[in-house]
Amino acid sequence: MNVSRSASGRQNGRLLDESEPALQARYQLNDIFCGMWLCHTIVALAKLKVFDLIDESGVSAESIACKLGLDARMLYRALRAVAANGILEETSFRTFKPGAVSTLLRSDHRESWRGMALMWGHTVSTRSWEQFAEVLRDGRSGVTHAYGKTLYEQLHVEPEAMQAFSAAMISNSAQTAKAIAAAFPFENFSTVLDLAGGVGTMLEGILQVHPHLFGGILEIPDLQDAAEQAMASAGLSKRAVFISGDFIQRVPADFDVYLVKNSMWNWNDADCLSIIHCVRSAIGGANGKRFVIIEYIIDAENKSWTTLYDMQIANLPGGRARTQSEYQELLRNGGFELERVARAQDQTLLIAKPV
Ligand SMILES: C[S@@+](CC[C@H](N)C(=O)[O-])C[C@H]1O[C@@H](n2cnc3c(N)ncnc32)[C@H](O)[C@@H]1O
Repeated sequence: MNVSRSASGRQNGRLLDESEPALQARYQLNDIFCGMWLCHTIVALAKLKVFDLIDESGVSAESIACKLGLDARMLYRALRAVAANGILEETSFRTFKPGAVSTLLRSDHRESWRGMALMWGHTVSTRSWEQFAEVLRDGRSGVTHAYGKTLYEQLHVEPEAMQAFSAAMISNSAQTAKAIAAAFPFENFSTVLDLAGGVGTMLEGILQVHPHLFGGILEIPDLQDAAEQAMASAGLSKRAVFISGDFIQRVPADFDVYLVKNSMWNWNDADCLSIIHCVRSAIGGANGKRFVIIEYIIDAENKSWTTLYDMQIANLPGGRARTQSEYQELLRNGGFELERVARAQDQTLLIAKPV
């Protein structure tokens, strides 16, 4: 076939031939695999803090390589590749300016997503993805196949991995915390407990917006020091407490609002139900209290990325992403009724009251 004669246009420099689905399919697959290489390149640049050195005045690859002790030619090729894919801007030969994405990957950005890059690039993630065919065989997580342990057991014996995953949780919550603080009527309550709250990033955002609130973080003991340091540097030590525990076993009473963000999907239905039962017994007969599940929910609007996130959730913690009705059923089985649904950026808040 003569591609150029029957081509109907060009995209990304390639001839498009609408009468040739196999050619379109090859281009599509090629773009998907390029996404994987783009990801590896971004992760390495973020790890080396290359994006921190790129400012509006325009910086050459040579000067960055010199400061960081990198190979200048190789760094240029990597920066050219990420610039060609919209991550930053190549302004003149071998000189680069930041873009919105490279700026968000700086280590000193208030809402930096560099932590996410460190987590996805960590060997705990990459080794687990190597096992994905096994995951499809038996449904057990890639982490279990790679290490013979659950994700949190592996992070416990690899403190540097725990740090990378914690940094990712900070990235995950930094931007959304204030939107969540505005999406729920915290002004009607006095105390809030963030279950599996990481080092307290979301709680910090909520307490800053609602100065009357007192808060708690329920987390595994490994995160205590980092969480207490984070609360102290935010000036919140007197308004927040770290509670070391396991939310599948017990959740403390005496809080008005129980939040759990991006943590229910880490667990299978049986464990989720145990968490919900623990929250239900903590709430007891006081039905003015509320339980709020904050999650990326699979729905028609966001199906393409939430269903892929479902793959990484299956692969790392071994859990699953769910639809709203799946969460609603878990809540019902755990003694709650879904009262209201709210949105905060890309997160859904399922606000439940005890029945
Ligand atoms: C995906 S992270 C979410 C963290 C935080 N809520 C956020 O949105 O950034 C899951 C969290 O669950 C915590 N976790 C794991 N097992 C736990 C358990 N048994 N009890 C309490 N927290 C647990 C982890 O330490 C981790 O911080």
